[in-house]
Amino acid sequence: MTIQPIKWKDDKVLLLDQRVLPEKEAYLECRTYQDVAHAIKHMVVRGAPAVGVAAAMGIALGVRTIPEKNKNSFLIQFDKICNTIAATRPTAVNLFWAIERMKNVVYQNLHVSIKALGLLLKKEALKILKEDIESNKRMGTYGSKFIKNGAVILTHCNAGALATGGYGTALGIIRAAKDQGKKIQVIADETRPFLQGARLTAWELKKDRIPVTVITDNMAAFMMQQKRIDAIIVGADRIAANGDTANKIGTYSLAILAKEHKIPFYVAAPLSTIDFKIKTGKEIPIEERAKEEVSHIRGKRMVPHGVSIWNPAFDVTPNRFVSAIITDQGVVKKPFQKNLKKLVSK
Ligand code: MRU
Repeated sequence: MTIQPIKWKDDKVLLLDQRVLPEKEAYLECRTYQDVAHAIKHMVVRGAPAVGVAAAMGIALGVRTIPEKNKNSFLIQFDKICNTIAATRPTAVNLFWAIERMKNVVYQNLHVSIKALGLLLKKEALKILKEDIESNKRMGTYGSKFIKNGAVILTHCNAGALATGGYGTALGIIRAAKDQGKKIQVIADETRPFLQGARLTAWELKKDRIPVTVITDNMAAFMMQQKRIDAIIVGADRIAANGDTANKIGTYSLAILAKEHKIPFYVAAPLSTIDFKIKTGKEIPIEERAKEEVSHIRGKRMVPHGVSIWNPAFDVTPNRFVSAIITDQGVVKKPFQKNLKKLVSK
């Protein structure tokens, strides 16, 4: 079953609205780069690789409205578009990686006309989308080797087709294992507060007829203690050069639990999620989101008025808890700092 969270159609960007899944399957039409920026910030599209693809498409959309006057005014406008898109969410490095790719297209082609630059930017955005799906499939091939027939896999948040160009990182590995004929069962953490697990992971696995059981986040420890989990696979929003991994809030506690219960804990992410510019996870900026995501569930208040709330969207799992990082260029084991470096210098 093909799930397309992001599409370019008739010079508009269409985003499968992840705020309203699973009740409604509706695409939000973005006509301007501001529409795309708003959609990223408000989680119409989410998940690190998907945010990167959407950012690139937003930029490609934005430059179409710049008047074809002169290069200097084009570059000023282009910068403004990139800055608006960059200001949407701080943690997933794929956003900044995609913006950088779009900037490179412009600065390496300053000799061509503004119209031609617009076409090159659209081409690059579509290439980022295509490459993302291909990279997910490679990750699926590498990662599925770790999944035995009959395995029960716990995952957190949604690192699936919805979070990428359309196949998935953690869920891509599960899809690949299933395609090899392995029988897999997935345990999806509900993932409060935004419920990516309950709403999105469950939705896309059901569509693909992969057996899935949803649990609330606080049930994972008990399941592990009962030896009902064989492995944990999660995605990532940013991986530091030493392998420390930022992912959806709640990932860190799962990693600690995995260690205690001797369950392998895998991180699946493309190279675009690795930030070699930062040495450790301490440098990863952690987004804090609106208090209403915690105080309310689907519009209904759960917390008394006036009570203080904290809502960090991600946490950082120290590298020592990670069994392996499954990338689109191969599997990386400890010591991560050395082996991640080796991977890019291949
Ligand atoms: O806040 P979200 O839904 O964008 O967070 C998403 C995650 O934490 C995912 O696990 C991560 O981006 C990897 S997606 C392949």
